[in-house]
Amino acid sequence: MEIRTLAADITRVEVGALIVNLFEGVTQPGGATGAVDQALGGAISQLIADGETKGKKGAMTLIHTFGRIGPARVLVAGLGKREQFDADVVRQVTGEACRYLHRVGVQRVATIAHGAGIGGLGAEESGQAIAEGALLGLYAFKRHISSNSQDNEKEIQELLVVEQDQAKVAALAQGIERGRIVAEGATLARDLVNEPANIMTPTRMAEVARQVAQEGGLECQVLEREQMQELGMGALLAVAAGSAQPPKLIILKYNGDPQHPENNLGIIGKGITFDSGGISIKPAQSMWEMKGDMSGGASVIGTLQAISRLKPKINVIGVVPATENMPGGSAQRPGDIVKAMNGKSIEVDNTDAEGRMVLVDAMCYAREKQGVRRMVDIATLTGAMVVALGNGCTGALGTDQPLVDRVLRASTAAGEKMWQLPLLEEYKEQNKSTWADVKNSGGRGAGGITAALFLSEFAGDIPWVHLDIAGTFLSDKEKGYIVKGATGVPVRTLANLALDLAGR
Ligand code: BES
Ligand code: MN
Ligand code: ZN
Repeated sequence: MEIRTLAADITRVEVGALIVNLFEGVTQPGGATGAVDQALGGAISQLIADGETKGKKGAMTLIHTFGRIGPARVLVAGLGKREQFDADVVRQVTGEACRYLHRVGVQRVATIAHGAGIGGLGAEESGQAIAEGALLGLYAFKRHISSNSQDNEKEIQELLVVEQDQAKVAALAQGIERGRIVAEGATLARDLVNEPANIMTPTRMAEVARQVAQEGGLECQVLEREQMQELGMGALLAVAAGSAQPPKLIILKYNGDPQHPENNLGIIGKGITFDSGGISIKPAQSMWEMKGDMSGGASVIGTLQAISRLKPKINVIGVVPATENMPGGSAQRPGDIVKAMNGKSIEVDNTDAEGRMVLVDAMCYAREKQGVRRMVDIATLTGAMVVALGNGCTGALGTDQPLVDRVLRASTAAGEKMWQLPLLEEYKEQNKSTWADVKNSGGRGAGGITAALFLSEFAGDIPWVHLDIAGTFLSDKEKGYIVKGATGVPVRTLANLALDLAGR
């Protein structure tokens, strides 16, 4: 889909449908919606007076214009309450509106720049939110569906963002460009996560990373099992032991500030391409979801793609420990003791607590071998986080409050909700082992926190933030710009963070 700006009178653009908007409780629409209402002889205010159109968030009313104005149809999209309006409402409503028009079969769509007038958003912000909402809301993973009915299905070809004020058009276009870049990063992450585990193997993930590097001028390195052995990555290798698929440690580097190598950010993503649980095997119910246990790693690859195009003045180092967690004949067993790269010994209490094991070797590697000065890890780490926060909110924990605050701010701007949990030192006791320095499961209480505390033992003394996306990597329904399947969380947050740390 092409997204363009156009300086024009919205009542004259010749498209299949024009998206306008309405706040809840408004009886006389103003601005661009008001202009369309007038050109249609008060059709929109009549619908409001009749009680058919109320402006509720996400509600849609389609009006056919029968040649009275340029657009063949007008779609009135509800923005909800004015006090609750922000860029994320634009993203969500644009996602809903585009899917609605896709179902109708419209191929050329125009929209007003929601919020850029009375809504109080900047033109750039509005353009970005519209691009993200449209691209993410229309996303579908159909690679494996061969029925030819979908070949004929009409896709929206073009989205015109129409703005009367020529002075705003450049900023609008800039926002659209940024929105497209980050939405495509999230889309790449969604594709990797939606792909089943028989296809999205560690080897395939490494191939995708190489391709992203080639297209974006990034450095890419892939370490094989032998190199992991030389580096002493006993925890990562223990998880990989039960699988026929070879593990890969994927490194993607963006050098945006080569003069200052210490001006960097490490992003470490859990890359378990399938989590069967290993010998501590999971129940069959919903086990398929564990094809997405590499969502953290996918978000790292998607973010680096976006960063290679946004070009912030900072160095970003992505590290993805990729392996399956399978119960093969050479798999690790509960009770095994292994040694991580930093020399700490780990008792394997439960082979299903594999994420923390692969992450700690990747974190040690990022600090010791890549000189990472601050890092964020992203992982579908614990079922406990799903219990604590549900499916609408990522859990954040960290050792450095200023960095946590920056991550939270970046997430708010992206509309990817996060909530901080405390990294309570006193719970470290739960990770104590009789036989080794630490054990990989902390028992029943506060599972999301004890998992983070386990990671903290390997974070060294650099600022570090942990994001547990176990509740947010998948969606079981369509809503706003979220569709069924992978969400692409938290690619847009991470891109915002890199831009923020780079000072823009
Ligand atoms: N990948 C899972 C966590 C998960 C669960 C992600 C549900 C997404 C949805 C992780 O590897 C896991 O199995 N964690 C265990 C840890 C426990 C054994 C200490 C868990 O949460 O049950
Ligand atoms: Mn597991
Ligand atoms: Zn897992």
